[in-house]
Amino acid sequence: MSILSVKNVVKSYGPLKVVDDVSFCLQEGDNLGVIGESGSGKTTLAKIIMGLIKPDKGSIETQRGFLQMVFQDPFQSLDPLWTIEAILKEGLFQAAGMSKEKQYQKMAQMLQAVGLSVDILHRFPHEFSGGERQRIAIARALMANPKVLLLDEAVSSLDTLAQKQIVDLLKKLKQDFHLTLLFISHNLRLVRNFSDKILVMYQGKIIEEGPTNNVLRCPQHPMTRQLLQAAFYL
Ligand SMILES: Nc1ncnc2c1ncn2[C@@H]1O[C@H](COP(=O)(O)OP(=O)(O)OP(=O)(O)O)[C@@H](O)[C@H]1O
Ligand SMILES: [Mg+2]
Repeated sequence: MSILSVKNVVKSYGPLKVVDDVSFCLQEGDNLGVIGESGSGKTTLAKIIMGLIKPDKGSIETQRGFLQMVFQDPFQSLDPLWTIEAILKEGLFQAAGMSKEKQYQKMAQMLQAVGLSVDILHRFPHEFSGGERQRIAIARALMANPKVLLLDEAVSSLDTLAQKQIVDLLKKLKQDFHLTLLFISHNLRLVRNFSDKILVMYQGKIIEEGPTNNVLRCPQHPMTRQLLQAAFYL
């Protein structure tokens, strides 16, 4: 079943078509990797899908509240003046209708799900490592009961061990919460290990898509081949 449908989306900045007639569908349970060189339009596309940027043309079909996004830089995406409790509660859409006790239980559940303790609720983002901060950002996203998580370079700012831990966590959360994942990364090694399907962007266009093994073993487009060479042979 299609859970997100992107249809003929176009976005230009001046003469530059940053997203150029992009269409694809996410099926429930997908783990889709989006790769492409820097500037190929990946973040712009993700922001359009989230409704943070309005496209010039095209449409996004999904159900409201289904999508949550985790950004690259947990230093920027978590407000430094807010406690972890305030950050998590902000992610809770139905906070108004929920008792304090229920809110607390939900926060405890999500912190536990990402490997953190409920004892951290009164602390501030700067007291945590980059990996822990990204766990908090993921817990905040989960507070809204999303069906789809968009992860835009969500592990790129971390060292390789922390990257592996977060990727393993995401695999587990995908199972536990029946999530559909859209994983944007320029790290092809990560995408190779993580995503079942791949979509390759170049100059705002999707130039190739398919099961990860097919795309990585027999890339059809010269730009995909260049990306692979850069990732695996340099
Ligand atoms: N607000 C903006 N105004 C003008 N140009 C923009 C704006 N946002 C993005 N761009 C341009 O759009 C292009 C695509 O940017 P985008 O951030 O989507 O790329 P990306 O694929 O996410 O790159 P990276 O891998 O480096 O994160 C770039 O050339 C960028 O300079
Ligand atoms: Mg980007």
